[in-house]
Amino acid sequence: MSVKIAVIGGTGVYDPKMLNNLTKEKVTTPYGDIEVTVGELSGKRVAFLPRHGAGHTVPPHLINYRANIWGLKMLGVKQIIATTAVGSLNLNMKGGDFVLIDQFLDFTKNRIYTFYDGGERGVIHTDVTEPYCPELRKIIYNAAKELGYTVHPSGTYVCTEGPRFETAAEIKMFAKLGGDLVGMTSVPEVVLAREAEMCYASISLVTNFAAGISPNPLTHEEVVEMMTTKSEQLKNLIAKTIEN
Ligand code: HPA
Repeated sequence: MSVKIAVIGGTGVYDPKMLNNLTKEKVTTPYGDIEVTVGELSGKRVAFLPRHGAGHTVPPHLINYRANIWGLKMLGVKQIIATTAVGSLNLNMKGGDFVLIDQFLDFTKNRIYTFYDGGERGVIHTDVTEPYCPELRKIIYNAAKELGYTVHPSGTYVCTEGPRFETAAEIKMFAKLGGDLVGMTSVPEVVLAREAEMCYASISLVTNFAAGISPNPLTHEEVVEMMTTKSEQLKNLIAKTIEN
């Protein structure tokens, strides 16, 4: 039986136990194998895939984005709800806020960005005017409002290569270019989902103010700590979104 909805869990979202009646499925793709957990949430069948591996063992620049998206497509997934931890450049988007990003600026450097490398599949140029699915973003927004959570309906995500955090000068530049948030994973994930004609939205959770805005050096621990603090809300938000 096919699964129509998937959750890609980012930093701090590794536990598939948000689903009931779990089974593990190994999916073989042309890009490598992935392991997906399938279960039930809000009465629907949902696939869960931790982006960084079950124990956060895969850094952002080494994630096999193509295998992940292709594998979900093979399962029959049509809608993807992704979670991402982000730093904020926008003083109105504070630690603990949810943001339903609607645009990205791509500052990654060394990733594979497409399923279309010529050859059999040909050369395809995909429209990404609106990379994140507006319908799904709206459903998530309404769910967050219903739950009384602080949520921003839009935002521009700057994707960096990582795994290092940014310099203060980089963050100043990103802010001048119109960025609101910074993270390391949304590109090429969202692009590949577009190429695969899937509806993809990201729930970004602000874990820190970005470099040079935060008074302290940034740590992965503070990112994970905020994700852990907010994990119940994030889970509720995903469940309510799927219910609606
Ligand atoms: N920079 C990049 N990625 C991040 C950050 C950040 O400040 N916080 C969480 N993910």
